[in-house]
Amino acid sequence: MVFKQKLIKRLKKRVGTQNVELFSSCRNAIFCLIKMLDFKKEDEVIVQSFICDTIPQTVNEAGATAIAVDVDESTYNLSAEKIKKHLTKNTKAVIFVHTYGNPTGIHEVKALCKEHNLILIEDVAQALGAKHLGKPVGSIADYAVYSLTKQLVNIGGGAMFSNNDISKAAEIRDQLHKPARAFIDYPKRLIASLYDGYGFIPSKWMIDYARNRVDLKLVLALDRHFKCSEVEAFLSLIQLYLLDSSIKRRKRNFEYIQKYVKTQEIETTADSAYTYLSFRFPNKEVRDLAVKDNFYFLPPWKGTAIGDKLIFAPNNPYFPNFIIRGFCKSYRKAFNQFNSK
Ligand SMILES: Cc1ncc(COP(=O)(O)O)c(C=O)c1O
Repeated sequence: MVFKQKLIKRLKKRVGTQNVELFSSCRNAIFCLIKMLDFKKEDEVIVQSFICDTIPQTVNEAGATAIAVDVDESTYNLSAEKIKKHLTKNTKAVIFVHTYGNPTGIHEVKALCKEHNLILIEDVAQALGAKHLGKPVGSIADYAVYSLTKQLVNIGGGAMFSNNDISKAAEIRDQLHKPARAFIDYPKRLIASLYDGYGFIPSKWMIDYARNRVDLKLVLALDRHFKCSEVEAFLSLIQLYLLDSSIKRRKRNFEYIQKYVKTQEIETTADSAYTYLSFRFPNKEVRDLAVKDNFYFLPPWKGTAIGDKLIFAPNNPYFPNFIIRGFCKSYRKAFNQFNSK
């Protein structure tokens, strides 16, 4: 238990909440949280539409109903204005994702949730180290969930933060845990999380392959093991020491591309974690020309209006400068090719 206890202590200090519990992944943390809140089928949980399919799937699998709401096209986050249009008498909670590490709009959404008596859940999977109005993300909402495989290279792991009692979520985790299943999940998660490290290339190949072969919306993505392991905690601990220097490097990359391309907007009251770089295009055609030109762009997300005009790439702190410059070159080249058609 030594590394898990140390990790809990470290996360408490970093995020500033009284309670931290560890899980096998962020999605499994969400699952246990929705179960703990005892939501039923008629209870609606607002989730942004521009997100990895696993989050709405997990909400539904836990027994509630996920309601997809479009994000603001420049910040890629939910806004109070967008959420308001989808509120019903059954709305119980909002999951606010700090997309690519950007906390823009969280306090506005918090005020809306307070006004309507809704539970606010922060998804900080991509955003540890970010702040809004000086407050660390993960400590702003009623509850927060985190993934140990988005900003860190790991074989799995997730966490839940709150100043409220979350011991019931931990009990649910312990009851559902199937230890043997961990060995199926570990390799999958390791390869996926290499996106963020030196192993970017095999990870990208695997994810491209999976996306072309499988309709990810149909795959149940929940882990069957629910507990975080000592190895996951150990790997997270070492890398958390490097997080601030990684964020500094990532911020530099973001500021560089900001000069040449249209990218995510971050309000002045927000300090992002800059986990991914994004590139906005006027239409799908130009976007696809850029994707064809550069291996390092990630596969486009289908199914949302904003997804068709956007491409993103890991803001990998180990990427040499020529890769970052290459994104801007491919961006400009795509516009030139499109205009000369
Ligand atoms: C914003 C966000 N939250 C949560 C998750 C799920 O995290 P995990 O793989 O730890 O379940 C993902 C990606 O899968 C994500 O993009």
